[in-house]
Amino acid sequence: MNKATAVSPANIAFIKYWGKKDSKLNIPFNDSLSMNLSECSTTSTVVFDESLKDDFVDINGKNIEGDKKQRVVDILDVVRKIARTRVKARVKSENNFPTAAGIASSASAFSALALAASWAAGLRLSNREISIVARLGSGSACRSVVDGFGYWKRGKDNRTSYAVPLALVDYWQLRDIVAVVSKESKKASSTEGHEAATTSPYFKTRLTMLPKRIKLMKGAFLARDFSTFGQLLEEEAVDLHVMAMTSKPPIFYWNEGTVQVMKSLRKWREEGLEAYYTMDAGANVHIMCLAKDEKEINKRLKKLSGVEFTIVNRPARGTRLV
Ligand code: DP6
Repeated sequence: MNKATAVSPANIAFIKYWGKKDSKLNIPFNDSLSMNLSECSTTSTVVFDESLKDDFVDINGKNIEGDKKQRVVDILDVVRKIARTRVKARVKSENNFPTAAGIASSASAFSALALAASWAAGLRLSNREISIVARLGSGSACRSVVDGFGYWKRGKDNRTSYAVPLALVDYWQLRDIVAVVSKESKKASSTEGHEAATTSPYFKTRLTMLPKRIKLMKGAFLARDFSTFGQLLEEEAVDLHVMAMTSKPPIFYWNEGTVQVMKSLRKWREEGLEAYYTMDAGANVHIMCLAKDEKEINKRLKKLSGVEFTIVNRPARGTRLV
């Protein structure tokens, strides 16, 4: 078999990866924690074909060239090196959600690619190894490999930086409702954001604060303490954006819709409806709530003028073959 198809979810980070200790290997400064998203996935098919003179990459029906293609070819090269082959490949990748709108399409894409390419090349890698290959494509991709809720141990080198499952899909019936406030591609990529991160005067402060926050967040998660979890979630999200806004050059990801959702959630909480926000490197807001409140919150979100549409996600399994 020289062909394989894999499907993989995007994930939303509760504790964020922001800033790289090693930008070639995507080794982060800190551990991070995330949930896989059931309705935001990438399906990737890889075929190694002796007759090809070059690699071909098709994303969402478009033939890709340049830097974007190179990023995929780099991962094919990693896989070819392990499999000791030089055969070129055809990659076809399809997202079921808007690319580059703040939902981490690179996470689902590179995790799906890591599994599909390695399997198609005849390798039978462990989850840990797939997580490592995925990380080389995009850091956050390493967390999509494991089921449910992923914990990325920053590690200190290529072999020690990968994700492990913190809890499986059914551990906690959390929902992540993505409020899409902008379908346009964001202007600064997360890769640029990572580069700028260390120039923020708050970067060091954050690193000092993080071990305690991670411990509290893990504790709240494992105890299913939603109020504590939510408060930490929002603190962490705001910290990431404060760093982005104060880096050189500064990056502003939010728009009016983002702020409208943040304010609305605060109001709804005062009324007794509990939900909390987080944002990745984009304007869209991820609203975390308990399954019992999903319908009411989704209904209210859809009524906000700044919200174009919503996507309701359950915790999902990690990368798998189809
Ligand atoms: C804000 O994983 O997209 O979503 O490694 O350069 O591909 P690269 O970056 P990427 O960064 C994700 C940043 C984030 C936070 C997170 O998902 O942890």
